[in-house]
Amino acid sequence: MSSNGHDSNGKNMVRRSHEWFGPRDLEGFLHRAGLKSQGFTEESFAGKPVIGIANSWSEATHCNVHLRALAGHVKRGIMAAGGFPLEFPTISLGEFFLQPTSMLLRNLMAMDIEEMIRGLPIDGVVLLTGCDKTTPAALMGAASADLPAIVVTGGPSLKGNWKGEELGSCTDCRRYWGELRAGTITQEEYDSLESAIYRSPGHCMVMGTASTMGGITEALGMTPPGGASIPGADMRRSALAETAGRMVVDLVEKGTRPSDIMTEDAIENAMRFLMAAGGSTNAIVHLTAIAGRLGYELTPDKFDEISRATPTIVNLKPSGEYLMEDLFYAGGIEAVLNRLAPLLHLDTITVNGHTLGENIADTVAIDDKIIKTLETPMYEEGGIAMLNGSLAPDGAVIKQSAASPDLLHHVGRAVVFENYEDMHARVDDLDLDVTKDDVLVMKSAGPVGGPGIPEWGMLPIPKKLLEQGVRDMVRISDARMSGTAFGTVVLHISPESALGGPLGLVQNGDMIELDVEGRRIDLLVDEAEMERRRAAWKAPAPRYTRGYGLMFSEHVMQAQYGCDFDFLVGNDPVETHAEMHSAG
Ligand code: FES
Repeated sequence: MSSNGHDSNGKNMVRRSHEWFGPRDLEGFLHRAGLKSQGFTEESFAGKPVIGIANSWSEATHCNVHLRALAGHVKRGIMAAGGFPLEFPTISLGEFFLQPTSMLLRNLMAMDIEEMIRGLPIDGVVLLTGCDKTTPAALMGAASADLPAIVVTGGPSLKGNWKGEELGSCTDCRRYWGELRAGTITQEEYDSLESAIYRSPGHCMVMGTASTMGGITEALGMTPPGGASIPGADMRRSALAETAGRMVVDLVEKGTRPSDIMTEDAIENAMRFLMAAGGSTNAIVHLTAIAGRLGYELTPDKFDEISRATPTIVNLKPSGEYLMEDLFYAGGIEAVLNRLAPLLHLDTITVNGHTLGENIADTVAIDDKIIKTLETPMYEEGGIAMLNGSLAPDGAVIKQSAASPDLLHHVGRAVVFENYEDMHARVDDLDLDVTKDDVLVMKSAGPVGGPGIPEWGMLPIPKKLLEQGVRDMVRISDARMSGTAFGTVVLHISPESALGGPLGLVQNGDMIELDVEGRRIDLLVDEAEMERRRAAWKAPAPRYTRGYGLMFSEHVMQAQYGCDFDFLVGNDPVETHAEMHSAG
């Protein structure tokens, strides 16, 4: 293996890393000395492609805690293919521990990854991810830096098991939380769930955001075939990590960049997968941001057009019955893509150098209960519907596959909470004036107002209704909701209330109409009254006066633009080879 690579015209060039480690001058001395100080001999790296391993391992991100071991398998693959691995940490975003929401930091992680790729002496990179925001952040950063890259996720956790019942996080944590509040299970029973539901390495094992983003990564072609569904505890994931290490060296040799893989057709494949999987509403935001980095604008209309023409065929919680481990045994995401093949662009290139069509040609779905056929789907349409109307002039979303069918067309009286704190203070008040036919409305939970568009959208059913047996009602906000959540929940209302959107003008007793089939969400208040309210509306005081929070508030875009920062849209590819050292 020489220090030469080839540009897209087949011309010999000196690799990017050679700029750091090749020259016999002071700078080259320092770069080599930095490696030798760690015990590497020059033979271990000289002339080899240097592959970064961007590791989001963290004890504060429990879903990613096994990535440190997985990195060892990636290294083995890189070395077997003649490369030199250089592992480095990125910030890591865990859903359970970060306040006020991990989404506030997704763009920061994307910046971290992009700038580390730019700054380090690497020719390619393997991105180790898992928990919800870590995969989209990695894809966004990799898209903007556009150096050869592969994503390896940590895979889903094994199924939870509690008293013989198979459980998925955190769909069933939420369901049993409702039962605890309704008084149908005891606190002791609920506590015993804690160690039964999450019992192995990996991310949430329903078709939540992490599983959805893993599947999207596979549909995009950015992870090796099988990369999304192998459980985190299965040794086949270690083997996949080793394979990814070998593959990235090949990507570097061929000069294949993320922009060659994540083409417009590949992004459309990912949208198809999202809809067919009954995937997370969060993926709408993330995929829009990823596409924006690559110069593609994904509009709500485009998502809806694809949703209307894509049956939901994956029977996983929270829309269905099964869990990611079941999906893996039934053939995995590859088999889902195989079933979707008539709707996909099969000629898109993937990280293994083959087309998507070649990768999925021989895969077979072996359980039709879990992976349905296009002819006998769970739902005729995709899992997510995009809404519009006087309450959401710039759009909103609902996961129709996880909603109650009898509420998909509903007119109800608004019960308004001004913000999350107000909701928490009053929702369980037995004097709250609320019935099962009302519409719960929460304000100040959008990108700026939240801040960071937190996952507060699945508003709890008021305690007094829970006790009456109510388990779902229409709930509306400018927040997101966890991909593991369920219910008739309208999310991402735009423009958000904190920026003066109509949601901020809703008052108790207003009538609201939800019409999912018609794709409408309307506030049934006449325009003269709305004008009066608009004139009286006052913008909330800014939450941040300094630091990252201030930058976030000033630059975050609304949900329909992926909540990316306005100045991060697009890419600026790093040179894969050193022009100044062109060899010819
Ligand atoms: Fe990490 Fe659910 S908490 S994926």
